[in-house]
Amino acid sequence: MLLGVNIDHIATLRQARYAGDHQCHNAEPSPLQAAFDAVDGGADSITIHVRGDRRHMQDSDAREIRAKIGVPLNLEMGVTDEMLALALELKPAFACLVPENRREITTEGGLDVAGSFEATRAAVVRLQDAGIRVSLFIDPEPAQIEASVAAGAEMVELHTGAFANAREDSAAEAELDRLAAAARAGHAAGLQVNAGHGINYGNIARVLTVPHLAELNIGHSIIARSTRVGLAAAVREMRALIPAGG
Ligand code: PXP
Repeated sequence: MLLGVNIDHIATLRQARYAGDHQCHNAEPSPLQAAFDAVDGGADSITIHVRGDRRHMQDSDAREIRAKIGVPLNLEMGVTDEMLALALELKPAFACLVPENRREITTEGGLDVAGSFEATRAAVVRLQDAGIRVSLFIDPEPAQIEASVAAGAEMVELHTGAFANAREDSAAEAELDRLAAAARAGHAAGLQVNAGHGINYGNIARVLTVPHLAELNIGHSIIARSTRVGLAAAVREMRALIPAGG
């Protein structure tokens, strides 16, 4: 199984001090260095989200990381003309289409592919025409799987946030059942099935009970752990919890 590491929080920390001048000679920490460190620790791909409000990753970060890392770049993006233009310029290996809302702290729900079908399908086609593999970040619901297949995406990323946030064990189990059902349906329809959001060192073993998962995308927990042990070591620790192999 593959591990994608989301390094947006490194840019968040830099922006906390240098939002007005992220390229200033004192600006730190460096998202590019974080990408190198994550790869060092065993990341199979690097994920960044350039948001419409540029609250963390900047276009210059995306260009630099795209040019210099030796693993695939996964660009998380809202379905907007601005982000499509950036993706078509960058040509990352993968694009993951996500909903975006300026007031949210992080991506809260999945993309409503069924409810925004034409716009999503048009974005999928434009990205694929440029050689970019497309993933749709969706809640684990049958209607969203069906719509993702109809939209022509190669991959879905199942939103694991409801599982991760569940306080009661019974609710977590119910969420795992929903994830497993969606994973089976996606796999049966020929989609690559990935998962992400809220996965941490403690809950990953239960996420791994979901069948057919090809890749996990993890950010917050790894970056938090990196403040104790360094980023390469934090990625290595997570990697050790995931079955090896592509
Ligand atoms: N996948 C997607 C589509 C996301 O939006 C995020 C959060 O940016 C993640 C994975 C990673 O989530 P977390 O930071 O909770 O590990």
